Amino acid sequence: MNKDAVTQYPINEFARKRWSPRIFLNKPVEQERLVSIFEAARWSASSMNEQPWRFIIGIKPDESWNKIFETLVKENQVWAQSAPVLTIVCGKKTYSRNNNPSAIFPYDVGQSVAHLSIEAMHQGIYVHQMGGFSTEKAIALFDIPIDFQPLTAIAIGFIGDPESLPGTLKTRELASRSRKNLKEIVFREKFGTPGLTG
Ligand SMILES: Cc1cc2nc3c(=O)[nH]c(=O)nc-3n(C[C@H](O)[C@H](O)[C@H](O)COP(=O)(O)O)c2cc1C
Repeated sequence: MNKDAVTQYPINEFARKRWSPRIFLNKPVEQERLVSIFEAARWSASSMNEQPWRFIIGIKPDESWNKIFETLVKENQVWAQSAPVLTIVCGKKTYSRNNNPSAIFPYDVGQSVAHLSIEAMHQGIYVHQMGGFSTEKAIALFDIPIDFQPLTAIAIGFIGDPESLPGTLKTRELASRSRKNLKEIVFREKFGTPGLTG
């Protein structure tokens, strides 16, 4: 199965190959690959260099994995049960230097996960982010402090065989990928006016 992005213009190999699978191999992710993946997140840019990202990881079959799995909505549990590593991503809501609220901490945290995703691909590992999880359960199960907000969950692992997925999930897994055209997202002169030719 090839789900590489069919790009209009050339992009780097790892961004082209990255996508979000729903089936993972029953194979652990080695510590060396995991640390590199989170190292890439660590070196992401952030407002005031606050680095508001925090990651809680669970590695099958540890208790942390079970707890993260418990936070997932049923629709995600169906496929994420095959992931050898699960993560909850949290963001710090205030700046450490003055305790002022940060309006853009989710932007910073999302950016760190983008770095993580591309490094994962570099390591031959796939990630699938999930908004479908219970923040309340995550806070209770992991004693997440009031100043931190759980933002997403992530499934991490080697990609599995789509043939082993049940009906609708298999169909979604094999479906082609699409994106808006560049002229719909890059503007110039006025919002909505395409900003690049070609
Ligand atoms: C913040 C975020 C939340 C997402 N939540 C879910 C989710 O709860 N369940 C799911 O199956 N996919 C989820 N996805 C995956 C998206 O559906 C997927 O990234 C999108 O369809 C584009 O597909 P691609 O990543 O394969 O290119 C999420 C992705 C992001 C970035």
